[in-house]
Amino acid sequence: MSNINTEVIKLTEENFKKSIKKGAELIRKEEVVAFPTETVYGLGGAGFSPLAIRKIFEAKGRPQDNPLILHIGSMEMLDDIATDIRDYVYLLMEKFWPGPITFVLNKKSVVPMEVSAGLTTVGVRFPSERTAQALILEAGLPIAAPSANTSGKPSPTNAEAVFEDMKGRIPLILDGGQTDIGIESTVLLSTGEKPIILRPGKVSYEDIREVVASVEISAGLKQGEKPMSPGQKYRHYAPKADMYLFVGKFNDVASRILFEEARWELEDKKIGILCFDETRERYSSEHVISLGSYFNREEVSRNLFNSLRDFDKLGVDVILSESVEEKGIGRAIFERMRRAAKEVVNV
Ligand code: TXA
Ligand code: MG
Repeated sequence: MSNINTEVIKLTEENFKKSIKKGAELIRKEEVVAFPTETVYGLGGAGFSPLAIRKIFEAKGRPQDNPLILHIGSMEMLDDIATDIRDYVYLLMEKFWPGPITFVLNKKSVVPMEVSAGLTTVGVRFPSERTAQALILEAGLPIAAPSANTSGKPSPTNAEAVFEDMKGRIPLILDGGQTDIGIESTVLLSTGEKPIILRPGKVSYEDIREVVASVEISAGLKQGEKPMSPGQKYRHYAPKADMYLFVGKFNDVASRILFEEARWELEDKKIGILCFDETRERYSSEHVISLGSYFNREEVSRNLFNSLRDFDKLGVDVILSESVEEKGIGRAIFERMRRAAKEVVNV
């Protein structure tokens, strides 16, 4: 891939309109632009352009069979791309849009198969972030966007992380600072009688249950099982180091991590520890990163991917990580940790 110059524009009140215009113009010219959303940064291209979609896949190094989400800036745009939408979907949209949930819907034929990776469905999200909305509306069309990381790496939650992965690959990054939520949207398969959560996110199972009586959680990927979402079968969020995720009671986990740390040190490995404010004092090693307070799940989700990227920069060989309870947004955080980990250890 040619080495193009990557411009980063730090958005301010003064340059906002002009910068959005510039981004939207590039999108209309079938170029790829990285932009912030409330979840993570997206790698955006014109939603109806096979050429732009190809450029996105190339910049990310993404497997061709993993479909993209179309981002809309108005409910009119929804009608352009999706059809046969069930009643419960409208109820959920009413409650959670604009916001961090993606609905997988029956697609209209205008949506190119490059977006949906050959499926008859398309993921649609109406983001709440101001920059994302402005960019979509200025471009005047849905923007196809996966997370703006190199395939397999943690999703970027700030422009620096996007730059690390996309430097020389795309012409423009719109820098809107640190994203608010920090993990990707909930993906909800919404074509059947009951919705099925394919990827947990900020909008939790419990949140959805308040609106629809019945919702399922996809079993994920068991050995030999056919994935319901292509994204489920690929390694994700992986830091360079081997990460071990310890699950169990607070004290047991901390003791086990201390034990493992001593063991790895004997093998001359550089160790990183991922923990919480409440447990950080227990560890004396050099590379300890706290995700924030164990009880502040918003803070933990905001910090997770960046912390994994920080371990890459520290060059640790092994990450020993505490975990969170799988409840509410904790389910989404745990899923990211699980998929980043080489091994989950029950203590
Ligand atoms: O928060 C987000 O969703 C971010 C921001 C940029 O909006 N986007 C994002 O996109 O995370 P991506 O491509 O990294 O993840 C989309 C996930 C993948 O796991 C993909 O397999 C799944 O959604 N997906 C997309 N379209 C689908 C479809 N038609 N059927 C099943 N799964 C789908
Ligand atoms: Mg992604």
